Amino acid sequence: MFFNNSNSSKDDFDIDLNNVPQHIAIIMDGNGRWAKKRGLIRKMGHKAGADTLEKISRCAQGLGVKHLTVYAFSTENWKRSDEEVAGIMDLLRKYLDEHIKKCKNDNFKVNMIGDPSRLDEDIQEKIKTLESLTENNTGLFLHIALNYGGRDELLRATKKIAQKVESGELKSDEIDEDTISLSLDTAGVPDPELLIRTSGELRISNFLLWQLAYTEFIFSDKLWPDFDESDLKEAIFSYQNRDRRFGGRK
Ligand code: FPP
Repeated sequence: MFFNNSNSSKDDFDIDLNNVPQHIAIIMDGNGRWAKKRGLIRKMGHKAGADTLEKISRCAQGLGVKHLTVYAFSTENWKRSDEEVAGIMDLLRKYLDEHIKKCKNDNFKVNMIGDPSRLDEDIQEKIKTLESLTENNTGLFLHIALNYGGRDELLRATKKIAQKVESGELKSDEIDEDTISLSLDTAGVPDPELLIRTSGELRISNFLLWQLAYTEFIFSDKLWPDFDESDLKEAIFSYQNRDRRFGGRK
């Protein structure tokens, strides 16, 4: 089956709905530049970014994507000004409150990845509430990376595995790729088939280092707040026209 929205030529991508990636990861970059271009403070860029996240989550769900993992706050983002960090945390509070209110209507299943321990306690509580209120929803699995870093996640996973070896629960020669995958924050979630990074930057910035081993990358020049449904469809269309060989040959 093909998806073809013929209302606008830009939106004219023949997406094969039987081959939509199960899991898309997004580095939502460019909020600050978007705000600067408009003479606004950075927080306004992040606010527009949160609105875009809402729009793109709905579109992904509509296209049949099962998992969407978004990089909202990295372990390195604490280095930003106190004002900017506080602004993002305030937005996060609002985002969580709004989703707690409407979670029965929009069917998303929300899950946070990253180390929550450095987040304020009220935020940690709201996260737990939203995760438990949405756990039986059946729509898009929305994984929000907060205080997340790929190296930090691998470090935490390594410690979990070492503790199991120390306690005798696991032998070191039994450790395989599954042991590692299942010790990560993304345990049980298939690896992303597609990663999208906006704003023209060409790097992965410590995101999902283990999980992106065979992921297809799409780099968009659009700043995240400007990224729209047709950009998502274009990225999926481009993914569908890639030749994925996983190191083998056809
Ligand atoms: C990168 O843009 C974006 C971030 C570090 C934060 C992403 C946050 C959001 C999309 C909104 C908040 C999310 C939730 C779930 C409430 P940048 O600031 O690095 O942009 P720049 O490179 O142009 O400066």
